[in-house]
Amino acid sequence: MSRLQHFGWFLARGFGPQGWGNPALEWEWEWDWTRPDLYQQSARELERAGFDLLLIEDAPSLGSPETIDTRVRHAFGGPKHDPLLLAPYLFAATERLGVISTVNPAASLPYTAARQFATLQHLSGSRLGLNVVTDTGSARHFSDAPQLGHDEAYDRAEEWLGGLRALWRSWGDGALVADRGTGVYADGEHLEHVRHRGEYFAFDGPLNALPFPVGDPVIASPGGSGRGLGFAGANSDIQLALAPLTERSVKEYRAKIHEVALAAGREPSDITIAFAIQPTIVSSAEEADRIVAASADPDEETLRTIARRQSSDLETDLTSLDLDAPLGEGFFGQHVSQGSIRRLVGDRDIATATLRAHLTALARLGRISDRTGFVGTAAEFADLIEELGEWGNDGILLWGDLHPVTVHRVLDDLVPILRRRGILRRELDSGGLRANLRSF
Ligand SMILES: Cc1cc2nc3c(=O)[nH]c(=O)nc-3n(C[C@H](O)[C@H](O)[C@H](O)COP(=O)(O)O)c2cc1C
Repeated sequence: MSRLQHFGWFLARGFGPQGWGNPALEWEWEWDWTRPDLYQQSARELERAGFDLLLIEDAPSLGSPETIDTRVRHAFGGPKHDPLLLAPYLFAATERLGVISTVNPAASLPYTAARQFATLQHLSGSRLGLNVVTDTGSARHFSDAPQLGHDEAYDRAEEWLGGLRALWRSWGDGALVADRGTGVYADGEHLEHVRHRGEYFAFDGPLNALPFPVGDPVIASPGGSGRGLGFAGANSDIQLALAPLTERSVKEYRAKIHEVALAAGREPSDITIAFAIQPTIVSSAEEADRIVAASADPDEETLRTIARRQSSDLETDLTSLDLDAPLGEGFFGQHVSQGSIRRLVGDRDIATATLRAHLTALARLGRISDRTGFVGTAAEFADLIEELGEWGNDGILLWGDLHPVTVHRVLDDLVPILRRRGILRRELDSGGLRANLRSF
């Protein structure tokens, strides 16, 4: 018997120009990315499909002043609107779907954040989630304090979240009375006068918002470093996993998360682990074979498109370089993450391999059926998901623009197959996002 898994959609480009650069999505359908109906339409489809959640990526900054042009020119790095403010529109359009908005503790004070999230948790019927990220590159927008290091940013996030939780608990048992007979609404004696004086934040409570009927907003985290996993173990309800989908790697990743949960005094089952995957689903195995074969020999325009995306991710302009020359040692500045450089260069030698070789390797696609990539039919993709379930997997995050065309392309054939195999639930629970994540 197949194992039920949780499904989510990862809106990887954030609340920005959906489908930009793809005329079929962007122009002919005439959706306006700044208006809610594009996302509401897609959110309804996800809910109908039995997805637990929609997760919206975000970065508050356009990047460093020297590299802004590479980020915005093709809209890979911005503009982006604030996903927290999109969430109420999505809640209004749906009844059971969870919405996880990305938040950065650098960008909002704990008291303000606790109050806003409390408001949304009430408004949504406990369907709010927060993807807590620790990007430090945007620090200059919030103060002139020196930028924090990688681990310190996690320390600050932990203090911030602890502060939010203290404020959310500041209405103790018995504080809310709401007795129509006596006319008493609340009992101030039961309010906790939180006083927080920490390393990064100082504030007092109690919070001017009601306690939650069925629990806090769900916390998601995407970090994969030692410190990031420690944060997840202590704080997260859902971990966004990015790792090769081999049996060994999936099992190792899961074991690591279970270990950090136990180390923090929690149960392994307290954290839903969801692997992020971006499949290209096509209608036949022949079509998949054709796409994969063509990708081995990409044309100039494909390479240029990949160069544009990489320029944004790496905050370094690759588009004006000679494709047939090597980048050379020391090409990237200190601001570029080693992980991003590794993703571009792979195991080639940066001193001798040409830029064309790097971009060609990125262009190369593989088939789902032989596990060399993610191009395949819905049935082949369902086989992969079923296999993940056999290895104990909890959930899948499908990755893409939140555009009705993209959503349909992925879901139309896949959902019936997953349902028939007992991998995707037929109905969501009415008790909110955490209830859905804990329902199996
Ligand atoms: C599925 C997924 C979603 C992510 N979403 C965001 C995001 O919305 N905003 C962001 O700044 N970083 C995002 N990240 C990056 C992480 O916040 C983090 O920088 C990265 O995983 C490295 O963390 P580490 O240094 O702890 O390994 C995401 C990562 C993954 C795998």
